[in-house]
Amino acid sequence: MTPPAPTADRPLACIVMAGGKGTRMRSATPKVLHPIWGRPLVGWVLAAVRGAGAERIVVVVPPDAADAVGAAVGDAETVVQENQLGTGDAVRVAMPALDGFSGDVLVVSGDTPLLTAELLGDLVAAHRASGAQATLATFRLDEPGGYGRVIRAGGSIRIVEARDATDDELAVREVNAGLYVFAADALRPALDGLGTDNAQGELYLPDAIPLVAAAGGLVDAAEIADPALLLGVNTRVELAEAAALLRARLLEAHMLAGAGIVDPDSTYIDADVVLEPDCVVHPGTVLRGATHLAAGAEAGPHSVLDGAVLEAGAQAGPFAHLRPGTHLRAGARVGAFAETKNADVGARSKIPHLSYVGDAEIGEDTNIGAGNITANYDGVDKHRTVIGSRVRTGSDCVFVAPVSVGDDATTGAGSIITDDVPPGALGIARARQVVKENYAQRRRDD
Ligand code: UD1
Ligand code: CA
Repeated sequence: MTPPAPTADRPLACIVMAGGKGTRMRSATPKVLHPIWGRPLVGWVLAAVRGAGAERIVVVVPPDAADAVGAAVGDAETVVQENQLGTGDAVRVAMPALDGFSGDVLVVSGDTPLLTAELLGDLVAAHRASGAQATLATFRLDEPGGYGRVIRAGGSIRIVEARDATDDELAVREVNAGLYVFAADALRPALDGLGTDNAQGELYLPDAIPLVAAAGGLVDAAEIADPALLLGVNTRVELAEAAALLRARLLEAHMLAGAGIVDPDSTYIDADVVLEPDCVVHPGTVLRGATHLAAGAEAGPHSVLDGAVLEAGAQAGPFAHLRPGTHLRAGARVGAFAETKNADVGARSKIPHLSYVGDAEIGEDTNIGAGNITANYDGVDKHRTVIGSRVRTGSDCVFVAPVSVGDDATTGAGSIITDDVPPGALGIARARQVVKENYAQRRRDD
């Protein structure tokens, strides 16, 4: 049979199979929602699928997790698989969402977070170049374990699940990666032909491959060189393995893009963190959420930044905890044992030691003394503290919000500031010291 001409411009849709129960996780959280570096498992798969250019994405979800998974998949469509009747059933349930679509359908599992856009793009390109109606990704393992074996005989290809395999078939090392590209028009009739005559009594998607061939279509198997890209997460052990591999991948990408990471072995960076070239991340540091470090910004050592923005030359650490909504303007500094949250810290201002600054706005060139606290919560509502520019607050001040301190003002050490301090003024709020002379002598006399 002569292959049809390449069809590089055919539209691409994707079905993500995530309808399984994930029982081996032993968790109340649906498997595909377990987070890896701030992103759910299925989010990693979706990032790869989107990167490969899929214009329609349908995610198959289990009934009990439909809402939670739906909320995590962004603009992808979801369909509920009412009964877990197998991977063939998962794709069958998804197809009505692609009614009328006649391009290529990429089928992936929702539990394979190491997939890359490049790998998927190459697979689709190979499928199109060969003119196949079905292309299956395979890889080789010395111990193929529970994977489906790829049985090639006289140009035909079929997959036999480990549970259904003979001893000879079990010895085959080429396995099914669980990753496929089908021409939609060849997939539909093949799904209708699937049966349940197997050890699990399920509809097996791999059985669609020989059915496409039997209908006169060309089928192809593309071997993938790096099995690590296909790691599936079924247990928390595999979740940790996948996280370690993704962490190494993220750190390497950041360093190659110019971010300074002093000790990758002790640095943990969420997927959505932005690091500009020439920022520096010191050892023992965790960067979470939408944290953003501009050029010349420094984080750590031993600091946790969650959703914090550091402008050029800003510094957090050592031992700082920056929580969401923290914005350090150029050259601002948060030092040891200081915590910030929803705090806009102006250029060159400093919170050097032992402070909590939350729901606050600080102007430029201000110095917050050691051990200052913004008391922002009255038990019902959060209130703001506004501190101006060039302010000097004394050590151990408490700002009972809502309260403001004007530009160039000063507060006395140990003050509980409950009233606004006008610009240029000194606010001092503490009991006067009483000195009792000859106290020791009097005690002895008594
Ligand atoms: C599957 C393949 C196997 C392949 C392996 C690669 C079948 C029958 N076997 O086995 O050949 O070597 O992947 O990892 O396909 N799912 C649903 N609905 C269901 C059942 C599963 O959506 O009714 C989803 C799961 O959530 C999972 C994916 O499909 O994301 C794969 O299912 P799983 O049960 O893990 O298949 P394997 O036994 O790993
Ligand atoms: Ca699996």
